[in-house]
Amino acid sequence: MNEKKTILSGIQPSAASITLGNYLGAVKNWASLQDEYNCMYAMMDLHTITVRQTPAELRKNTVSLLAQYIACGIDAEKNLMFIQSHVPAHAELAWILNCYTQMGELQRMTQFKDKSAKHKDNINAGLFTYPVLMAADILLYQTDLVPVGADQKQHLEITRDIAARFNSIYGDVFKIPEPYIGKESARIMSLQTPTAKMSKSDPNPNGCVFVLDDIDAVIRKFKRAVTDSEACVEYKEGKDGVNNLLNIYSSVTGKTVEEAVNEFAGKGYGDFKMAVAEAVAEELRPIHEKYNDLMKNKDYLESIYKKGAETANYMSRKTLTKVKKKVGFVI
Ligand code: TYM
Repeated sequence: MNEKKTILSGIQPSAASITLGNYLGAVKNWASLQDEYNCMYAMMDLHTITVRQTPAELRKNTVSLLAQYIACGIDAEKNLMFIQSHVPAHAELAWILNCYTQMGELQRMTQFKDKSAKHKDNINAGLFTYPVLMAADILLYQTDLVPVGADQKQHLEITRDIAARFNSIYGDVFKIPEPYIGKESARIMSLQTPTAKMSKSDPNPNGCVFVLDDIDAVIRKFKRAVTDSEACVEYKEGKDGVNNLLNIYSSVTGKTVEEAVNEFAGKGYGDFKMAVAEAVAEELRPIHEKYNDLMKNKDYLESIYKKGAETANYMSRKTLTKVKKKVGFVI
């Protein structure tokens, strides 16, 4: 019997490239888990349309995201990768779980509050029920662990609450999943506004580093990173810019923050920023190379997401059928 635990996670294909925050907060951790767990990673396109997308771009970004997963070290032989909309059970279970989720619970979600403030002209019902679809993604596969950045912790909590509520009515249907959140990499901040999370929608284009940015742009963004006037590389409260750069440096090099602080003792911010930039560039160069190769082979990418959908469709049926029986649908 296969005793390995199940992991599921994913990213929205809402831009042409994932951000350094997505990479360090999520994908880099995924790569480290692939030998120990049964891992499933989806391109979460259903979630993406909660914000208006250009159809041709969404299609392109979804396939590109798969190439980015692989280029970042997610082995296509060891991990199951699929496109969320190719597995209808996600949307089906989401509908059912909607009926076991309270409006009040969803109203408390900070992501909903943030996104509805940002997209005032399109506060759609999908944006509101986004966490329920995410709960369906996770619960459908009896997932044990969900590797995500710290911003998704609240969504994991509501997933656990929905699962526990459903189980308390119908018996043990869902496994209660645990979040898996890294330390230094859990919350990568904007290089320009280090009190805000790094995000593709940063109003200042220098605040967000994209994994597929060319290396010159990466170096330039780090050179311009906001620090403070103390001119001392230390990790302490209030030094948000420096703390963030130390976290990034530590996440890409594998050194502890303490080791990094020692390394830069007595050095100025110019040298420090350049060293962080170089370390990130070093990490991204091979990813770019692999990504460019993969994008030349669309047939290969298609074969992966087709095979992924087939397996995920098969796997998802078991839980979905059980849920349908429990709620009283004729099977
Ligand atoms: P998305 O696309 O917004 O984010 C993808 C992943 O990147 C992490 N992340 C960060 N981590 C650290 N620092 C940052 N600045 C940063 N920005 C983003 C997020 O925490 C996330 O892990 N709702 C999910 C997508 C999803 C999902 C799921 C995840 C849909 N269904 C099921 C896990 C399981 C999301 O945040 O996507």
